[in-house]
Amino acid sequence: MRSIALLAASSFLVSSVGATHLTDSLLNKVYNVMEEINVASWENGTKSIAILESKYPELTVYSSNSPFQKLDGLKSGQISEIIDIAQTTLQNRPNSNATSSSNGTLGGSSLLQDGAAGDPPSLGIAVLLANATTNNEQVKGIGYGDAATSQLNHLLYNVPRTSSGAISHREDQAQLWSDSVYMVPPFLAYYAVLHNNQTLLQEAYRQCSLYRDTLRQDNGLWAHILLGSGTHDPNLWITGNAWAATGMLRVWATIKASSYAGDMSSQMDDLKNWVTEIYDASQSYITSDGLFHNYLNDNSSFKDTSGSALMAATGIRLSTLGITDTYVPNSLKLLAAVSSYINSTGYLTQVVNPYDFSKQGTYSPEGQSFVVMAYAAYKEWDSLGRKGSTSGKDDPLGSSSSAFKVAVPAVMGLVVSTVLGVWSMI
Ligand SMILES: *[C@@H]1O[C@H](CO)[C@@H](O)[C@H](O)[C@H]1NC(C)=O
Ligand SMILES: *[C@@H]1O[C@H](CO)[C@@H](O)[C@H](O)[C@H]1NC(C)=O
Ligand SMILES: *[C@@H]1O[C@H](CO)[C@@H](O)[C@H](O)[C@H]1NC(C)=O
Ligand SMILES: *[C@@H]1O[C@H](CO)[C@@H](O)[C@H](O)[C@H]1NC(C)=O
Ligand SMILES: *[C@@H]1O[C@H](CO)[C@@H](O)[C@H](O)[C@H]1NC(C)=O
Ligand SMILES: *[C@@H]1O[C@H](CO)[C@@H](O)[C@H](O)[C@H]1NC(C)=O
Ligand SMILES: *[C@@H]1O[C@H](CO)[C@@H](O)[C@H](O)[C@H]1NC(C)=O
Repeated sequence: MRSIALLAASSFLVSSVGATHLTDSLLNKVYNVMEEINVASWENGTKSIAILESKYPELTVYSSNSPFQKLDGLKSGQISEIIDIAQTTLQNRPNSNATSSSNGTLGGSSLLQDGAAGDPPSLGIAVLLANATTNNEQVKGIGYGDAATSQLNHLLYNVPRTSSGAISHREDQAQLWSDSVYMVPPFLAYYAVLHNNQTLLQEAYRQCSLYRDTLRQDNGLWAHILLGSGTHDPNLWITGNAWAATGMLRVWATIKASSYAGDMSSQMDDLKNWVTEIYDASQSYITSDGLFHNYLNDNSSFKDTSGSALMAATGIRLSTLGITDTYVPNSLKLLAAVSSYINSTGYLTQVVNPYDFSKQGTYSPEGQSFVVMAYAAYKEWDSLGRKGSTSGKDDPLGSSSSAFKVAVPAVMGLVVSTVLGVWSMI
């Protein structure tokens, strides 16, 4: 009895300690699972950004060190994981004749066949990086740069728009999804800066503004899917709010990294305010165990680690970008809680089903990427002196004792106290 009780108590302690601030080895597993399980267009696009943020931080728009100038002389071999993604994308690109999409008339084609107009553009930055390092090398009959331009033109000239001019998330009708703010405006902005095109950069900003006009609700949080017919989701989806906030922050950072920052300071102020608007409105919905509900104002929806992870990542980025440290303590609380849901094989558990957003699923490709992004943000925040931390010299993601508090669901607490009770009776 004694040995069983001891075993139960100690194995539990070990697993919860490893589960808050992920060890490098567990974080590597998260990364490897991310590499393996991403399949859909937006998943691969999100993964490409997570890889950039964790392995090539100097090339991301979050870098304070002229990320666009870093492309000069960059070799494809230095970003081989990004090239792989871009190459796979072009291999999967539908056989739309490249020439018919760049025939001089306005128009183009999507990088991938997809009912969602907004998802394939999430791969646009990876494709542009592949172009910049291979000089428009061809894959299946089209150069990387030409495929990116064709994707851009498709968005600008073929995809349906709302009456206000917002580019639809869907190919077949004008319908806005908060997800699109992560997938499309950051690509437009990146393309714009690469090509010194301030008009296009302004369009990236304007798309954020138009999406907010439609999706923002009175409390400052965003509805998930509005307008059009078919799929609808007027609810305050946590992942959607995180997609929108993160997309707008990436556009902010892209402008900041460009030569237009001076000219576009009022647009940057707007973007910053729209991001913090979502953060301000969401903070009170963080539950006592450090997560958001899938619909953040609905206590009956499950607690979702995936959207919580992206909220954590971007809350920490707001600090590393020098915007505000206000959301640091809550973002760390979120990240600690999220980390406690990573199992020993490196999967983030208790996630929203990425293919059925109102339901809980067992794994999430995008969730894996969000955890990688959150740790990349954390690492930079740590190296910048942990601004906004309230934990003194302790690891802000939690020592073993705070891990215990975060990780132990009530039932486990009961098991432990029962075990300890048995132990004390022996
Ligand atoms: C996403 O990447 C995976 C892994 O490389 C690949 O198998 C899949 O076809 C890609 N998906 C698309 C839509 O290109
Ligand atoms: C591309 O062009 C060739 C030659 O004109 C034609 O045979 C082929 O059907 C076209 N493919 C597509 C997908 O339009
Ligand atoms: C040029 O490309 C656009 C977009 O793909 C297409 O709609 C149009 O028919 C093409 N025009 C000609 C003359 O081939
Ligand atoms: C692709 O790369 C070439 C050579 O570096 C460059 O001239 C071109 O503008 C790039 N295309 C895009 C769409 O960025
Ligand atoms: C900027 O991009 C837009 C959209 O592609 C294009 O119409 C315009 O000609 C570009 N402006 C310059 C100066 O290249
Ligand atoms: C939801 O939970 C929060 C925190 O646990 C609580 O403050 C709030 O009153 C609850 N809301 C509803 C509608 O039950
Ligand atoms: C971790 O979670 C994944 C996805 O739910 C599952 O397939 C795997 O078996 C889990 N690993 C362990 C050790 O429980």
